[in-house]
Amino acid sequence: MPFSDPHSYSNLNQGRIAHIDLHMAADFSQRVLRIEATYRLDRPAKGSLFLDTRDLLIERVFAGEKDLAWEQDADDSILGQRLHLQDLQDVSEFTIELTTSPEARALQWMDPLQTAGCRHPFLYSQCQSLQARSIFPCQDSPSVRFTFQADVQVAEPLLAVLAAEHTGTENRGDTRTFRFRMLQPIPSYLFAIAVGDLAFREFGPRTGIYAEPESIEAAAWEFAGNERRLEEAEKLLGPYLWDRYDMVLMPPSFPYGAMENPRLTFISPIFIVGDRSQTSVITHELAHAWTGNLVTNATWEDFWLNEGWTVYAESRITEILEGSDISQLLNAIRRLAMLEDMKRFGMDSDHTRLKYSQRGIDPDEIFSHVPYIKGFSFILLLERAVGREVFDPFISKYINTFSFQSLTTEGFVSFLEQELPEATEKVDVAEWLYAPGYPESAPVLSSSFYDEVADAVAAYDRGQLPSRERVSGWHPHQVLLFLRLLPEEMPAEDCRHLEAIFDLRESRDATLLSRFYVMAIGSGYQDVLPGVDRLVGSVGRSHIIRALFRSLATAQWTRHLARPLWELYRQRHHPMTAASIEQILASAGL
Ligand code: BES
Ligand code: ZN
Repeated sequence: MPFSDPHSYSNLNQGRIAHIDLHMAADFSQRVLRIEATYRLDRPAKGSLFLDTRDLLIERVFAGEKDLAWEQDADDSILGQRLHLQDLQDVSEFTIELTTSPEARALQWMDPLQTAGCRHPFLYSQCQSLQARSIFPCQDSPSVRFTFQADVQVAEPLLAVLAAEHTGTENRGDTRTFRFRMLQPIPSYLFAIAVGDLAFREFGPRTGIYAEPESIEAAAWEFAGNERRLEEAEKLLGPYLWDRYDMVLMPPSFPYGAMENPRLTFISPIFIVGDRSQTSVITHELAHAWTGNLVTNATWEDFWLNEGWTVYAESRITEILEGSDISQLLNAIRRLAMLEDMKRFGMDSDHTRLKYSQRGIDPDEIFSHVPYIKGFSFILLLERAVGREVFDPFISKYINTFSFQSLTTEGFVSFLEQELPEATEKVDVAEWLYAPGYPESAPVLSSSFYDEVADAVAAYDRGQLPSRERVSGWHPHQVLLFLRLLPEEMPAEDCRHLEAIFDLRESRDATLLSRFYVMAIGSGYQDVLPGVDRLVGSVGRSHIIRALFRSLATAQWTRHLARPLWELYRQRHHPMTAASIEQILASAGL
């Protein structure tokens, strides 16, 4: 089915990149990667080839002995610069020499003081959605897949990891070269690199974790269940085709919870809470190995296919590992978060639709729970329409049919109509995919853990605060749900009580704390300010920092604190997070 990707300059009629050979050197003093990239196309190109770039210094483009003509002939705030290779005469292989910008959007270069060990610098990438083009020129569309080979030079004692198979290391003087290859074709947004003082700990034959030596113990303990998680995922989704499933622990500034880079999930340290209660995030990233990394959304307009399916798969696996009371509880919490997002957008805003035209829109700027939870609800409804005995074989067929391919929403609908006509009779597919808001027909989620919390909320509404005893056995997700269901404005004394019964002064759970702080700010509970300060200085997940600043900028008593607090910690944050906080402050007139 023909489709065009509004977020890429590439024109696939000119040919597709099939393989890239990358030679890279990381220069921490200049904060750049120096790269020589050799591209192989799926067929010889004649005339023009358009590639996506952003802020790259292109030094030379050549094929064999011959320099090729090129120019950067278009510039756009969302798409970046178009690299136009010209007058190609049956060129199927060419090389580009380039240097990345110190401000490359995909790369965060960190000083030693921004790391856990404080002794060595750290570099990590985040390419989803449109950032791969700030590392090397590419057809930066999820509809193009390529294999690659790469070597990375770093200074001792740093270690380089790529989301790829490590094939060898060479030491020469104080330079170390790490070699990798990726035999399974990937879309550009799944390219990933991290460099730092990294240690490795194995969990099982196929799983392990990289982290700075200072954090490796805690990280290895928290995520020790990964080998079992992988086995359970395979039972639902079929054989794992990426060989290993490792993770690398990011520095605090990592702007997402986690990222499903193939073979190597990047994970924020906020999930190391000391009780293994936040590991469903890994189940989510692992599930992406099938739904997202094997079957990939064709464009970012079809993002719900990646995330909706992944939340569904995550929830099925969490059900096995932690029980359905927990998985349904999690989904109910995220549904509240989604409804909040929808209200913020406006219930008939385009951003509440699963699929709509995003030309002229930066997908990262409209990131929300909608594709995740509305997408998940839709898939769950399809499951319930036919029952698991029918749906589970459908899942296998879906994955087998579209493995290593990209799929549009429309492609999915035709597959659904063909394979599961009973479901399309019962579910209003067009309403779920194309209409705004959250349909009335949404599936009911039930969890006894949810009900327990709802009872406590009802009691609060009658004027009764829960006692420490009443909540002592609650799962952290229940605490989070309770805080979400309570009003955002309450007597400050009630906040103090909640802080005490949930031991929030000792909590390491940034998700929980940020929710509490939002409430406390809304309620004028002043004792939380030191905690807010600490969280803004130590947590990078954009979603959390954004929620805090939205409420700081709204409450009258904190308004004047928002800008100074931000100025204090802005340097620690990822440029993307920084940009969205600037936007929040600016639109609040601060
Ligand atoms: N692929 C996403 C992260 C992402 C999405 C990065 C869009 C850039 C653009 C990842 O799988 C994800 O969904 N992460 C979530 C956590 C998850 C448990 C829901 C996140 O970081 O919020
Ligand atoms: Zn995801």
